Amino acid sequence: MCGIIGYTGRNKAVPYLLTGLERLEYRGYDSSGIALIDESGISVVKRKGKVSALRQAVGDNFTATAGIGHTRWATHGEPSQLNAHPHLSENGMFAVVHNGIIENCSEIKQELKQEGYSFLSDTDTEVISQLLEKNYRGNLITCLKDTLPQLQGSFALAVLHRDFPGTILCAKKDSPLIAAKSEDGCFVLSDTLAAREHISACYIMGDGELALITENSLSFFSADGTPLSKEPHFLSGCTDGADKGDFPHFMLKEIYEQPAALRDTLSAYVKEGRIVFPGFCLSEREIKAIDKIHLVACGSAYHAALCSKYIFHQLTDKEASAHIASEFRYDSIPLSENSLVVIISQSGETADSLAALSLANSKGAKTLAVVNVENSSIAMKSQSLICTLAGTEISVATTKAYICQLAVLYLLALYIGSHSGGYAPSELLQQLLSLPEKVEKELLQNERALAAADLLKGSEHIYFIGRGTDYALSMEGALKMKEISYIHCEAYPAGELKHGTISLIEKSTPVVALCLRKDLFRKTLSAIKEVRARGAFVIALTAAETAESLTDCDFVICIGSAVSDMLTPFLDAVPLQLMSYHTAVKRGCDVDKPRNLAKSVTVE
Ligand code: AGP
Repeated sequence: MCGIIGYTGRNKAVPYLLTGLERLEYRGYDSSGIALIDESGISVVKRKGKVSALRQAVGDNFTATAGIGHTRWATHGEPSQLNAHPHLSENGMFAVVHNGIIENCSEIKQELKQEGYSFLSDTDTEVISQLLEKNYRGNLITCLKDTLPQLQGSFALAVLHRDFPGTILCAKKDSPLIAAKSEDGCFVLSDTLAAREHISACYIMGDGELALITENSLSFFSADGTPLSKEPHFLSGCTDGADKGDFPHFMLKEIYEQPAALRDTLSAYVKEGRIVFPGFCLSEREIKAIDKIHLVACGSAYHAALCSKYIFHQLTDKEASAHIASEFRYDSIPLSENSLVVIISQSGETADSLAALSLANSKGAKTLAVVNVENSSIAMKSQSLICTLAGTEISVATTKAYICQLAVLYLLALYIGSHSGGYAPSELLQQLLSLPEKVEKELLQNERALAAADLLKGSEHIYFIGRGTDYALSMEGALKMKEISYIHCEAYPAGELKHGTISLIEKSTPVVALCLRKDLFRKTLSAIKEVRARGAFVIALTAAETAESLTDCDFVICIGSAVSDMLTPFLDAVPLQLMSYHTAVKRGCDVDKPRNLAKSVTVE
């Protein structure tokens, strides 16, 4: 995924572009660049690395009041200054920034080379700027309209033409793009966060739509070039998430925001002891008719799906399964009008999850989006919508959005259970509502997690094991640890280790054992003994009342109890997050922007 910002107005463009790019870095940060336009033409500055390098290169050298900017997560072509966006066309007529993938770029490049065009970069985006130049006959919208059908794949584009200072051309297909007006000009953005304090409403571009933006006008067009009128989306006043406050990293801030995020999410959907989902459009009859619930997501969202699958089985009479979105698409799973496909996504823009949603819609399944971004692509393309209210999440490693996904999925299981003859204990709902305070208490484990990080920071490999929901959490714990500390981690069902992987356990191999499930404690204890017998170094997460049985573990983190076994995933997520965070910090890693990653992967 990449970040795009464009500005045209009365003020200098550079401050808006650079500040916006710094806020969009969560979308990708291996290189960045800006193109500025004024009467003298187009000027481009690009740098490899973080936006800070670009800011230094740009200095205070430009007075242009229009420009476009881009921060990149590489798909085609390595991270480099040459492959950074914007990309100019052959004769410098067009400058283009792009978020997405042009799947037929090789064929286009081949054809253009045969016509005498030359290419400077290894990117797919450069073919767009060359095609625009080739197709241009004097009208910008006509040129864009004629060019886009030649592109296969996904794109959000912001384009400058050297003869039109103050004008930005835009197009959108499958990657998000938003236009907005402010008091001192107009913006085009990948995410409103990039210019949050300047805008109070925005226009969300739809697939195939074009836009022409000037200092004080936003004009929209359909794919065939006919003018289009659009309704604005008004933004809440908050600009939360835009800065770290007193925290050293966004990730730590967002870990500590979990109680509030949970409170906001739970209180939005539980009114006077009843669960209400205004955006869930299934009737009681349709809920009763559901025969299969497919929970589909990527990464941590998939781990939330995996964890909640167990809960759906305990609270409803429905069969539930968790699927990795990129696998779900190719599995030919039978879907019908009685299938409920739940797409879970923090960003609401993950390409694999969006494609899984399109497949489910095309097969007539009921679709529901559980997302943290209300106007995201997945939200807009699902039949039903339940938003997590975690607030803006910047750190690439998700924490507060993940725990709010769990909360929504647990509420959904209770809701479906209560509407279809399942088991919906009111005391469980009360315990769910008490979670913010219990999660708050787990934050007190910070020192314990810090000590565990000291024990793990030098590891090459770490194994996470658990059973049932503890296994789902071990998956999440392994991902959190590996994605920010770069230590190789694997999660395994505790009962499965002895079927092969235990051959990797040797003296001092670190094993993090999750044994929160009291009903499975003895079984997981057997797995702990098996790895201990091979010399493993075991860190156990367990409830206080079972801690004394873990005397032969090397390090024990006691998790608050007094909640149903079903709710332990909310509590042990916190020490796992803190342990990963501190390990990454001790290893000098870039916690908020880990190498090779982006906050949301909008390419397949
Ligand atoms: C989580 O810490 C990772 N950054 C990643 O696995 C993420 O959960 C995944 O890419 C899915 O993103 P989404 O929730 O925005 O769809």
